[in-house]
Amino acid sequence: MEYLLLKGKQQINGTIKVNGAKNAAVAILPAALLTRETVEVDNLPKITDIDKIIQILKSLGAVVTCTGKRSISIDSSGVNSFCPPPSIVNKFRASYYFMGSLLGRFGQVEIPMPGGCNLGPRPIDQHVKGFTALGAEVELKHGIVKIKAKKLIGTHIYLDVVSVGATINIMLAAARAEGKTVIENAAREPEIVDVANFLNAMGAQVVGTGTDVIKIQGVQELGRAEHSVIPDRIEAGTFMIAAAATRGEALVADVIPKHLDSVIAKLREVGNEVEVGPDWVRVKGNSRLSPADVKTFPYPGFPTDLQAPMIVLLTQADGTSFVTENVFEERFNHLCELRKMGAKIKLGGRTAIIEGGHELSGAPVKALDLRGGAAFIIAGLISKGETRLEGVEHIDRGYEKIEERFKLLGVNIERRQQ
Ligand code: EPZ
Repeated sequence: MEYLLLKGKQQINGTIKVNGAKNAAVAILPAALLTRETVEVDNLPKITDIDKIIQILKSLGAVVTCTGKRSISIDSSGVNSFCPPPSIVNKFRASYYFMGSLLGRFGQVEIPMPGGCNLGPRPIDQHVKGFTALGAEVELKHGIVKIKAKKLIGTHIYLDVVSVGATINIMLAAARAEGKTVIENAAREPEIVDVANFLNAMGAQVVGTGTDVIKIQGVQELGRAEHSVIPDRIEAGTFMIAAAATRGEALVADVIPKHLDSVIAKLREVGNEVEVGPDWVRVKGNSRLSPADVKTFPYPGFPTDLQAPMIVLLTQADGTSFVTENVFEERFNHLCELRKMGAKIKLGGRTAIIEGGHELSGAPVKALDLRGGAAFIIAGLISKGETRLEGVEHIDRGYEKIEERFKLLGVNIERRQQ
């Protein structure tokens, strides 16, 4: 078993280049199945969720070749299976993108319910609603979702819930449907725009991503394409919050600052200096931090994926802060462990009430999900004493060699084997 060991009272100081976005890459690679031609995808993060997607692609018969440090080519001309292996699918949430891509390619797919971080109930009813509206029959039996369509036909779909996964999955299936599909109340995340850019590079006709109405004119065939994944705004935000919490300074480079507007605004509001360049953001932590009211919302709102790191930052504010989680109803797993470190946090419904100004103390803690795990690193850095962080496998799903990345920012953190 691996764990991270970190000393407290450390300050972030340095420059870091952000990697490609996990939540775009995990959809783009399955989307490669929509064509028989070879596609090349660059700027992939080296994380275990991507390793698992590549394993699934290979198990379906695709030839995946490493073409560079961060790039692969995918030749799916030989893919002849529409049943991704349950043993891998069960392990992570993003495996659900094989629903849309295999449905688009073969008109059918058989796949177990996806696994993933435990953030409370994570239904897929909006994905199913979309597939059904496109003309597919969806059946769930013994934990396997079977989706089959004689023909996918474009239609109007109004999503009852703003969902990143459902928006992308419907886009994937609709890309090769007959006629035009309109998704209303679509999610607007930058990762959705990136997936659409990849689909369009393959010859799809998707317009409107980044707004809440997306139109997809189905085409018969998709072709070869090259694509570079956008920067990971959540990885960037994690380092920005870490700089603020440790009262350090970080230049976070290779980002699209617009994607970080809500994070930049909140960091400034609590008293940090944030300078914004064309493709970088510099955060300088202030020794005095004001409390804040933070509400997570779908993009362009404050990202739920940065809720846990933000709570850690607010433990250092002079006063009481309120953080309301509006996206996932039970995304507060990290609070128990943060309390072990001395954080004074109460939970009232969907709002964490954080009494700031208390020094945290290092403790043995366990990551129970990806972003909560990243938050414990920040908590460990500002604490007094040593923190031993287990559950690193959750962090490895979405952050590439996190300890190496933090070392680049001047802090002492080690990965050890038990
Ligand atoms: C994506 O999850 C991300 N995962 C999550 O990142 C991210 O937290 C989330 O979007 C919100 O931004 C990937 O992109 C792989 P949703 P997803 O569908 O698509 C409800 C990380 O740490 N809902 O937008 O699963 C759902 O329960 C991960 O990188 C339905 O009710 O999220 C939630 O309350 C964690 N029915 C809300 O919508 C559905 O059919 C938003 O979920 C689908 C979703």
